[in-house]
Amino acid sequence: MKLTIFGTGYVGLVTGACLADVGHHVVCVDVDADKIARLNSGEIPIHEPGLEALVERNLSAGALEFTTEVARAVSHADVQFIAVGTPPDENGAADLQYVLAVAESIGSNMTTHKVVVVKSTVPVGTSDVVRAKLTEVLGRQNSALAFDVVSNPEFLKEGAAVNDFLKPDRIIVGAASEHAREVMKELYEPFNRNHDRTLYMDVRSAELTKYAANALLATKISFINEIANFAERLGADVEEVRRGIGADPRIGYHFIYPGLGYGGSCFPKDVQALGRTATEIGYDAPLIAAVDAVNNRQKTTLFDKIATHFGGVEKLKGKRIAIWGLAFKPNTDDMREAPSRVLIEALWEAGASLVAYDPVAMEEARRIYGTREDFVLAADKYAALNDADALAICTEWQQFRAPDFVEMAERMASRLIFDGRNIYAPERLKKEGWSYISIGRAP
Ligand code: UGA
Repeated sequence: MKLTIFGTGYVGLVTGACLADVGHHVVCVDVDADKIARLNSGEIPIHEPGLEALVERNLSAGALEFTTEVARAVSHADVQFIAVGTPPDENGAADLQYVLAVAESIGSNMTTHKVVVVKSTVPVGTSDVVRAKLTEVLGRQNSALAFDVVSNPEFLKEGAAVNDFLKPDRIIVGAASEHAREVMKELYEPFNRNHDRTLYMDVRSAELTKYAANALLATKISFINEIANFAERLGADVEEVRRGIGADPRIGYHFIYPGLGYGGSCFPKDVQALGRTATEIGYDAPLIAAVDAVNNRQKTTLFDKIATHFGGVEKLKGKRIAIWGLAFKPNTDDMREAPSRVLIEALWEAGASLVAYDPVAMEEARRIYGTREDFVLAADKYAALNDADALAICTEWQQFRAPDFVEMAERMASRLIFDGRNIYAPERLKKEGWSYISIGRAP
């Protein structure tokens, strides 16, 4: 099939490359000419395992094209994906201007029936807004052309997006017409050969499914973080409790790892957006508000532990703190809403100086914070420790899991670790003379 995808951001690019790889002819279109030029030369603007090879292969095979030519992109295919960003506006609500600009482009360039597929994460009801926009644009041209609007939310995890796309747990299609369902069925046929993973539903249910999935996952995380805080105050070990509850298949082991709270471009934004939707429809949603509140508080927990340990915030002045991990989770360079940022900014505020190391997010850190005297980016994880008064771990990168503790002790001014991800066994560290403060476990 021929497909057009508007937006070459994270979602659009992964979607385009994967759909090309299973045999479709995909044209990706973006307003950013510089980005399109770089993509055409095989340069991938994001860090995502497997994506570069996929883009390269399909680009050279001619199955994947990148362009800024909107008219050509619209005429290329009967199916037009909208995968542009929906950044928060000044009130924190999803800004639909890019989504609507794409609808405008499709409406003013289409000469045949189109199935318009909304893939961006958008508030419930947005597909209706897109429909209204298309109707308005076609009306202006006295056009009687028909179209369908489909909601097809994505469920990609950063760092595993290619795999998630190629091996989906489910594909959600919210469509109002038989024709749209048939088109989507054909499009996703390569993913459904072993068993059909597609769930067809009405448009609003598809839109709400996206928010419900992310809000439930976020709820699991806030829940276990709340239990971690109980455990700390009650002399229990949250890791034991985690295993104890996870053994019940109704609860399960996934997504109940305590830590510094969830970050990234999805959970914080989506939970807040659902909260905003509640307000808009006049519904009181205390659970959603609490998930967000617990998460915000959890992001400060490592700083609180550090300040308490040193005897108060004012005692942090002049301290040298090493930070391992800047990305919001492993296998990505993304620092959006990363708990590390809350810690870093609070430590600066308190007058500490920081030496940080992250396997891939260093450039991103430099972009966000620029060059500052109190923020050194170290060449490797051990170099970050030289003369440090403490180490704070913010991301559970694989390479932090089994370090050489002897070398660490030699480099650091004192044997002190604050672990926001619970990656070490407290017993072992204690035996080796470390002070080890983690989440939801007795120090
Ligand atoms: C999330 C969802 O997992 C995807 O299914 C969804 O498609 C995506 O959002 C989206 O809406 O686009 P992502 O933000 O990439 O994906 O990251 P996750 O792997 O889900 O991690 C989110 C955060 O939760 C991270 O900060 C992670 O450290 C934290 N987390 C996760 C925990 O603190 N504990 C856990 O047990 C699991």
